Amino acid sequence: MNIYDAIHRRRDVRAEFTGAPIPDEVLDRVLAAAHAAPSVGLSQPWDFILVADPAVRRTFHEHVHAERAVFAAALTGAAADRFARIKIDGILECSLSIVVTYDPQRGGDAVLGRHAIADTGLYSVCLAIQNLWLAATAESLGVGWVSFYREPWLRRLLHIPASIRPVAWLCLGPVTHLEEIPDLERHGWRRRRTLDAAIHHDRW
Ligand SMILES: Cc1cc2nc3c(=O)[nH]c(=O)nc-3n(C[C@H](O)[C@H](O)[C@H](O)COP(=O)(O)O)c2cc1C
Repeated sequence: MNIYDAIHRRRDVRAEFTGAPIPDEVLDRVLAAAHAAPSVGLSQPWDFILVADPAVRRTFHEHVHAERAVFAAALTGAAADRFARIKIDGILECSLSIVVTYDPQRGGDAVLGRHAIADTGLYSVCLAIQNLWLAATAESLGVGWVSFYREPWLRRLLHIPASIRPVAWLCLGPVTHLEEIPDLERHGWRRRRTLDAAIHHDRW
């Protein structure tokens, strides 16, 4: 698959996981792709926690669904009806979960390129996640990013030190297929913007 195919075929997956195992060599390639991402000051501030334990995943799933209810309670009318039909995770159905974390202390006090923009560390972690997502797509795996959780709660669940920030809970695994249209668009929640609308010339 060429890079443009991977970019355009990538989807956020919730409902299409088969639960089949991921071959070790495939997982190694996907993680190596994540670890090859650019990072501010070459700080590589990410870590990957591979969560296979079904009991941990079930506990996380319960927390996510409590948070889903918090969000749902803020909706009314048509939005509430639409959201009720949207699946927001494949935590129990996927083959493996990967929690990606950010260590702001990695690289010491003088991270080259981060002195003026603290968020560049976090951007670096997101680039690792995107590399992982595209590599998984090229391997015909699906990935779903779950963010319906409270960071302190997830820290406690996975014994993550207080100085480290969990950035994403990713669901990974073989899929029946990748949808052509994002779930949120198919369910009428929101439509994609055109590229033209995002491009500015010379000033905002
Ligand atoms: C930072 C981030 C957090 C997300 N959190 C969730 C989530 O909790 N649940 C969910 O169903 N999708 C989540 N998504 C997926 C988006 O809804 C999805 O990327 C978007 O609708 C576009 O669809 P596509 O990824 O299939 O192109 C998240 C995506 C990102 C980048």
